[in-house]
Amino acid sequence: METNFYPLTQRRLRADTHIRELTASVKLSHKSFIQPLFVDEALTEPREVNGLNGVQVGNVESTLHTIEDHLQQGITKFLLFPVPSQKKDTDFDFSFASGTIKKIKETFGEDIWIAADVCLCSYTSHGHCGILNDDHSQVLNSKTIDVLSRYSSLLANAGADCIAPSDMMDGRITAIRNQLDALGFEQVSIMSYAAKFSSQFYGPFRDACHSSPSTKGLQNRKTYQLSPFNINDALASALRDEKEGADILMVKPAALYTDVIAKLKQQTLKPVAAYHVSGEYAAIEALAEKGLLNREAGHVEVWAALQRSGADIIISYASGKAKEWISNAAI
Ligand code: PBG
Repeated sequence: METNFYPLTQRRLRADTHIRELTASVKLSHKSFIQPLFVDEALTEPREVNGLNGVQVGNVESTLHTIEDHLQQGITKFLLFPVPSQKKDTDFDFSFASGTIKKIKETFGEDIWIAADVCLCSYTSHGHCGILNDDHSQVLNSKTIDVLSRYSSLLANAGADCIAPSDMMDGRITAIRNQLDALGFEQVSIMSYAAKFSSQFYGPFRDACHSSPSTKGLQNRKTYQLSPFNINDALASALRDEKEGADILMVKPAALYTDVIAKLKQQTLKPVAAYHVSGEYAAIEALAEKGLLNREAGHVEVWAALQRSGADIIISYASGKAKEWISNAAI
């Protein structure tokens, strides 16, 4: 008798939406998402970011509205990137950042969870993530972590629920944890940019935060961020941050580094966060604009890939859409 089915078929489990939904190994939830927020001291009006459709750099007032909109869409977790109006290379002024956190927490209190990015790249004239030596050839690690620890304590004092250092200095997790604990902020967590690669995919972000590294002296971040050609360094650095007291370990970029997410997840019991960065987001948007993929389905497919590889937390510029898009997703 002629049969239509190969005896070892797997296709019974693919036959219709019901069975595909039932048997899906990945179940996404908008509750695992964090929305990044950009707020610029110099802006009177919000502005668009080249490549980041639907994302604005706001002022404090508009950022409060953005949070409100996200709450309506079921998103309660945020990652704030404050951009000061003045560039300086010493005596950094963190009052705009801490004032913004304070205002946000006064407005939304326990309704939201907010992490504050901690880095110097949007503060310094040269755009590097730390303080440089005189001829701009090196980042001064310990001088930088002193400043980052002070910055972290000001943000915690202003009400940040979590500190998210993205600078990639050595020893900053220990320094920040000690500083927070000494001041009584034991409950404030640390989400470490634990495996952060030196990547081409940060372009739109650098436009948003005016944080491109300068061309004089150190021309890129390769001496402190990870090489895309070295997974051993990525895992060693992330596990080092875990030992130093990081509560959440982040891998960034995300979609290009699912191997790192998967391997890290096997080696740690800490939650792993995947940051689908600005350039990765913009790539999907650009394809969608050309009619080459479906925008919603494209983002959801990436999110599924991140969770499948082991991410517990997803940081996405489309978090506001996560609830709607996940529930609409045609599995
Ligand atoms: C700053 C920082 C960067 C991002 C987050 N924090 C850029 C960089 O290291 O140059 C990138 C985020 C994104 O592209 O979405 N240290």
